[in-house]
Amino acid sequence: MDKFLSQRFGRGASGLGNSESLQSSGPVSANSRRKWSNLLPVLVFVVVLAEILLLGRLDMGKKAALVDSWADILFHSGGGSRGGGLDGDGLVRKVGVSGGGSGSSSKGAEGESCEEWLEREDKLVYSRDFDKDPIIVSGGDQEWKTCAVGCKFGFFSNKKADAAFGVPQPAGTASVLRSMESAQYYIENSIAQARRRGYDVVMTTSLSSDVPVGYFSWAEYDIMAPVQPKTERALAAAFISNCGARNFRLQALEALEKSNVRIDSYGGCHRNRDGRVDKVETLKHYKFSLAFENSNEEDYVTEKFFQSLVAGTIPIVIGAPNILDFAPSPKSILHIKELKDVPEVSTTMKYLAEHPDAYNQSLRWKYEGPSDSFKALVDMAAVHSSCRLCIHLATKAREKEEKEKGQSRPCKCTRGTKPVYHLFVRERGRFELESIFLRELTLKALKSAVKAKFASLNHLPVWKQERPESIKGGNELKIYRIYPVGLTQRQALYTFRFNKDSDFQSHVESNPCAKLEVIFV
Ligand SMILES: *[C@@H]1O[C@H](CO)[C@@H](O)[C@H](O)[C@H]1NC(C)=O
Repeated sequence: MDKFLSQRFGRGASGLGNSESLQSSGPVSANSRRKWSNLLPVLVFVVVLAEILLLGRLDMGKKAALVDSWADILFHSGGGSRGGGLDGDGLVRKVGVSGGGSGSSSKGAEGESCEEWLEREDKLVYSRDFDKDPIIVSGGDQEWKTCAVGCKFGFFSNKKADAAFGVPQPAGTASVLRSMESAQYYIENSIAQARRRGYDVVMTTSLSSDVPVGYFSWAEYDIMAPVQPKTERALAAAFISNCGARNFRLQALEALEKSNVRIDSYGGCHRNRDGRVDKVETLKHYKFSLAFENSNEEDYVTEKFFQSLVAGTIPIVIGAPNILDFAPSPKSILHIKELKDVPEVSTTMKYLAEHPDAYNQSLRWKYEGPSDSFKALVDMAAVHSSCRLCIHLATKAREKEEKEKGQSRPCKCTRGTKPVYHLFVRERGRFELESIFLRELTLKALKSAVKAKFASLNHLPVWKQERPESIKGGNELKIYRIYPVGLTQRQALYTFRFNKDSDFQSHVESNPCAKLEVIFV
């Protein structure tokens, strides 16, 4: 990944990188646009006539192509009637907007395609090159090797930091909150509270935070480690260091014991076994493990849960109400949502313990691989959170610059029979955006354009190096989600969907040159 990243994405290789096109939208082109609009009736007549003459002789495809280039010749120095603001029938509109070639007349005359024209016209020049002038974050050590955007952590006396941890920060430096503690213990970690205190960027376990920091990662947990024989006589193992908690975990533990579920407790709470053991190795020999968090908070899922997965034991979970979002398959966990669930859960535990086939079904994901949704979640951590912070900051910086410049771009080419829409897309975890062009705004067209684009780049998914061998998959790119850049991971993974073509259409219509992010699984 490292070499790949710096080669492919480190150098502003995409359509939004370096360009010469900013000048082309100045007052000159506005003038010439006016001038050309006076001549338009004549030109339209000529082109209509040409098209009528051609109609008789050419098949549709050739006709469209020829008319395109005729229009280019007629309009090549016209600065492009970008707005497409001509009235009249479709033909007139089509011709009117076909101008293209502002500035580069030679190319226009050769019959530049809509794609080429859009690539050039929609290109933005940014004042900052993150390769030469990386995102600077004050504080902490740099623990990762590469990042899709120039990114430096540390203490720099000579440079103004883009971001720093804590509040307040001087103007121009974003203040960052980073914590992996539950917001129920540390109320200041709640996103709303952090915003109120002036934090610009929140990094917590919440997938709704700006840059989530989870406990999970392929690197830290050997999630696909093979299942071991369940040799222990007790049904479940518990490693709960203290009985105190902001939830009912102690009562649940006692209720389980009362219902004759035998539990070996290695932690400080209700200890009955010597705790000086390797936790994961020990867990491997139990059918169940008690993954009881100290608070029941959305997305707050700690090593207790992931170690159970590594061990190939079924976690009995008290914790995040949305724990199913973190499960490798729907049947791989048992969830005690409330104290009154204990009898049912203990019955299930006993049933599974006595029915090896049913028990084995719950661990099927270990043999066949976890669900796409699980992979998509854990893959997020394939990019270090510090790098994701830099990507977040750099993306914001570019957005800000775009707003300030307020440059209008065509984003759509309406010559030919169908308009061509220009969109931008990047993989989650990467920074630079790639151009895609759509002739129709359907989800099918979007997916196939994204696939084709990344396939043509020989793109390797950002998680390719990180995932365990058995679930690395082949070379085919499989799309899991496509969503607008800027959504939270909670939205991206769980709540947002372009459900219908019309959702996507209205998104692109209200966001010309829409920027999208794709998750491959
Ligand atoms: C569990 O199922 C897998 C296949 O799904 C099989 O390979 C394995 O031998 C089974 N284990 C037991 C103990 O039945």
